[in-house]
Amino acid sequence: IRIVVLISGSGSNLQAIMDSCQRNEINGEICAVISNKANAYGLQRAQQADIDTQVLSHKDFDSREAYDQRLAQLIDSYNPDLVVLAGFMRILTADLVQKFKGKMLNIHPSLLPKYQGLNTHQRAIDAKETFHGASVHFVTEELDGGPVIVQARVPILADDTAHTLSQRVHEQEHIIYPLVVKWFSEHRLTMEADYAVFDNQPL
Ligand code: GRF
Repeated sequence: IRIVVLISGSGSNLQAIMDSCQRNEINGEICAVISNKANAYGLQRAQQADIDTQVLSHKDFDSREAYDQRLAQLIDSYNPDLVVLAGFMRILTADLVQKFKGKMLNIHPSLLPKYQGLNTHQRAIDAKETFHGASVHFVTEELDGGPVIVQARVPILADDTAHTLSQRVHEQEHIIYPLVVKWFSEHRLTMEADYAVFDNQPL
């Protein structure tokens, strides 16, 4: 399958997916990496692997609608089967989400439906949770609300800071995100009305 990855930052999840493609675990190739930030380190990771990169800055557009229209065109120009959001720090318009319905994945650093939005690690610590984690889900119009496919759970330790906890979560993200992309590439994963289906079983 053809995969387009959207990033805004470090791109460590992008790296994990690139490595998994390299090992032929994922039955596909990353055709392009698109960032809304020119200085995203993930762009260098992609360039080192000879993957096409594109920067589309939201600052060059008057409205979210105008930005997302151009972004949709850019994604479409690669004719992808799957769009992977990997730390793409933008809220998407309903139009864009609709266009790639069932073909767009996101990873969120919490055990959804807990802690949607930002600063999830600190919020989980402040709430004295004993566990935290990450969730891979299909993207729907509801922010961080689409059907969950896989979650990884990690303990919160007594001396954790948001930083140490985020490192523990990241390790798990790098396992579960490539795994879900692999399943999608094998056509084992689809989205029905508002739930995910794996090997013909609703999740
Ligand atoms: C991850 O924590 C992911 O859950 C969130 O953004 C972060 C991206 O990290 N959506 P990286 O750029 O892949 O290192």
